Amino acid sequence: MHLLLINGPNLNLLGQREPGVYGSMSLDAIEADLKIISENEGVHLECFQSNFEGALVDRIHQSIGKVQGILINAGAYTHTSIALRDALLGAGIPYVELHLSNTNSRESFRHHSFIADRAVGLVSGFGAMSYRLALQGLLFHLRQID
Ligand code: DQA
Repeated sequence: MHLLLINGPNLNLLGQREPGVYGSMSLDAIEADLKIISENEGVHLECFQSNFEGALVDRIHQSIGKVQGILINAGAYTHTSIALRDALLGAGIPYVELHLSNTNSRESFRHHSFIADRAVGLVSGFGAMSYRLALQGLLFHLRQID
């Protein structure tokens, strides 16, 4: 099984960026952690981060037929991007939306997600642990429908 972890804008700054909100773990460390867990689960995990909306859309397109599930922290594009929504729906690949922070407890502009209603599930508010929980949720879902 091949899975893809997508991180959107500003998530390359994890560890230095607003640590009180997003924690002290770097994206490299989060990705390495998730790759180890994936290996132990017998699945292959690829990781991709971009600050560019079009690059995220392209990466989703490239996953068609190659990837069985997507974990996505779309960062601020969560709240703005119809293009990302269309790419995910167009690809037809099951995805889990995730956030380090609890977006619903923050500014009102973070309360709306353009991708949440079609996600398999949503994990938000557990810091770096959100990534692990999202992976477990996605695997649970994919193994159920297998
Ligand atoms: C985020 C929440 C978003 O609102 C924000 O724009 C981010 C990070 C999170 O992981 O908590 O960049 O997706």
